Amino acid sequence: MNFGGVIRLNKTGLCILGVFLIFFLYTFTKNGRSKVENKISLNKLLTVAIEAAESGGRMVVATKDNMNLKSKGLTNEGLLDPLTAADLLSHCSMVQMIKHHFPSLTIISEEKAACLENESIPSPLKNLLDDQLDQEVNNHEVVIWLDPLDATYEYSEKLYQYVTTMVCVAVKGKAVIGVIHNPFNKTTSWIWINKTMSKDLHANLEIRKKNVTKIVVSRSHRGEIESILKNNVNLNKNPYQLVIAAGAGYKALQVAKREVDAYLHATAIKKWDVCAGNAIISGLGGEMTDKYGNAIDYSDPKNVVLNGLVATLSGQDRFLGIL
Ligand SMILES: *[C@@H]1O[C@H](CO)[C@@H](O)[C@H](O)[C@H]1NC(C)=O
Ligand SMILES: *[C@@H]1O[C@H](CO)[C@@H](O)[C@H](O)[C@H]1NC(C)=O
Ligand SMILES: *[C@@H]1O[C@H](CO)[C@@H](O)[C@H](O)[C@H]1NC(C)=O
Ligand SMILES: *[C@@H]1O[C@H](CO)[C@@H](O)[C@H](O)[C@H]1NC(C)=O
Repeated sequence: MNFGGVIRLNKTGLCILGVFLIFFLYTFTKNGRSKVENKISLNKLLTVAIEAAESGGRMVVATKDNMNLKSKGLTNEGLLDPLTAADLLSHCSMVQMIKHHFPSLTIISEEKAACLENESIPSPLKNLLDDQLDQEVNNHEVVIWLDPLDATYEYSEKLYQYVTTMVCVAVKGKAVIGVIHNPFNKTTSWIWINKTMSKDLHANLEIRKKNVTKIVVSRSHRGEIESILKNNVNLNKNPYQLVIAAGAGYKALQVAKREVDAYLHATAIKKWDVCAGNAIISGLGGEMTDKYGNAIDYSDPKNVVLNGLVATLSGQDRFLGIL
């Protein structure tokens, strides 16, 4: 056999081979590189989310009585009332924390202010879960929802038990990591669904045995929801009791901790109010939906309003159709 004939190439052949080689190398390295850049470690993101909620919370506490503010970290300094200032400072410290570690993630916050970059953010604490149990997701599949100060009205009234800061990580539209931090009692409830959760959520895993159905509703919409519930025949076949509270984060935790059976909200509500609570309640085996029973999609940053809310750990169907 004449092997020489097979490998002997003319100039044109060499050129074509060269072009293919360059094209192949280009495609290969480009994909390789972008793959590395696009992957997000949820284990690290969990740690950063908790730190962000807590750093926002420090701003909320620090600003509570301070009328003469130097609004550190904001691009637009100026005269602000304490509520606005607390909101903005918390927002910026949360955004700075997340941007520092994950510069290219999409962040949606209740607050829209532009924030300065902060060079002096410490590196995050070590990851909460063993790295072998980590899950990596694509950058573009992640949307972060922030509520830098939930229950603003109660904050200005000094009803601090209702005040929280919240961070939520949605992957492909589903709430996967949820962090609800109460900066005044310094508690942080968090979950990474199917992976790990904070001890306070673990501690409450037995089902409520109380014989009265408890429903938590908003202080500010109390009247309208009371009359809706009063007129519901099915609900009134059995005794129920309303728990009046504030803050979507606080109310979601009331469900998660089995203090109540359901959290109902009749009117429009924003996704940054409910995303973190949604992760926690779903992760504990419960459900959070709009008032028609539709699952909540957190993938679209422009679509932020929900029509009503129903959240339970069990028996969701019982409460759908009431509102
Ligand atoms: C930068 O972040 C650190 C740590 O969170 C904080 O103490 C400091 O006040 C921040 N600086 C600015 C200018 O926001
Ligand atoms: C958690 O695990 C359940 C059961 O395997 C699965 O159906 C669900 O999609 C998982 N949730 C997340 C957010 O990974
Ligand atoms: C709930 O149960 C307790 C003890 O079994 C009873 O005393 C109470 O009346 C019950 N409450 C209602 C509203 O049925
Ligand atoms: C701390 O705050 C959270 C959320 O507002 C609440 O659920 C929890 O019961 C509070 N804990 C204490 C000890 O007050």
